[in-house]
Amino acid sequence: MRQAGRYLPEYRSLRAEAGGFLDLCFTPRLAAEVTLQPIRRFGFDAAILFSDILVVPHALGQGVRFETGEGPRLDPIGDATGLARLRERVDADALVPICETIDRVKGALPPEVAFLGFCGAPWTVATYMIAGRGGDEQKAARLFAYRDPGGFGRLVDILVAASAEYLAAQFSAGVDAVQIFDTWAGILPPDEFVRWCVEPVVRIAALVRRQVPGAKIIGFPRGAGSSLVHYVDAVPVDAVGLDWMIDRDFARENIQSRRPVQGNLDPLALVAGGPGLDRAIDAVLAAFAAKPFIFNLGHGILPETPIAHVERMLAKVRGGGA
Ligand code: CP3
Repeated sequence: MRQAGRYLPEYRSLRAEAGGFLDLCFTPRLAAEVTLQPIRRFGFDAAILFSDILVVPHALGQGVRFETGEGPRLDPIGDATGLARLRERVDADALVPICETIDRVKGALPPEVAFLGFCGAPWTVATYMIAGRGGDEQKAARLFAYRDPGGFGRLVDILVAASAEYLAAQFSAGVDAVQIFDTWAGILPPDEFVRWCVEPVVRIAALVRRQVPGAKIIGFPRGAGSSLVHYVDAVPVDAVGLDWMIDRDFARENIQSRRPVQGNLDPLALVAGGPGLDRAIDAVLAAFAAKPFIFNLGHGILPETPIAHVERMLAKVRGGGA
């Protein structure tokens, strides 16, 4: 999950130096530094590449901006004419700086620290591409997919190819595993979930592994609930990210029985701290620690998270905290 960001003063200062958020993502010296910051400060067991899921629409020729405090803004695709303006394939040059970041991080990371790359799943990325922003329950993309499933399918096809190429490039540059984030998977009814969240990720996994045999892939269809079982049935992921809403007994019995799992701590419990955080950590460990499990948040770290709470969490999970 997201581990760098505005909760760290050292991130805020590099972000100010870079200017825009995308400049930070595309400047290898700075992006590598931001990737390493949480590892230096907290000694996490894995580092996640500093980038964003929206670099793929950027590499497909769509205008992408990040306005401070407002989240991402893209030139919305809107309709078939907007779709036609996209490139068919990613501009490989646009992604070169990200591979250079990976190379730099790889050279600087202690060898025992795993290094994760990532991309957004086609459904989630498409929701931002169509609406030009997040929010409003991703209505624009849901409407687009109902009204013009053929057109929506073409966008998904482009994203499947682009994401696979991008992930394979990340492996070549040195990541150990990748995570595919489907942040908005939980908003779809079951049939649409299979069509737009399961099937495209099945295709991405196959394309990546054609180029990188045995590539390790973590899937994270956030909010999938009981549909997570269908995801695990169909998608050959090596591990599954759990959000914090899922029923823990259900996830242990139906998901962790088949794949290692990671995540599940409510990021807001980490903001709250105190006994509420301790209870939340205990509940996650009680549910999952007996089988292969990677302790992590159930979604990205929030900007208002106190650093002392992250330290407390680490001490407790690693056995130093009461
Ligand atoms: O921890 C890390 O260093 C990993 C880097 C990472 C970022 N985004 C950096 C980022 C990762 C893995 C992501 C994934 C991402 N980006 C997702 C999927 C996972 C998730 O968190 O839901 C999505 C949907 C996005 C799109 C995106 N990027 C949004 C909606 C926002 C605004 C939200 C916010 O917190 O302001 C971003 C911006 C963004 N991406 C930030 C970071 C550190 C905050 C940027 C800043 O203002 O400095």
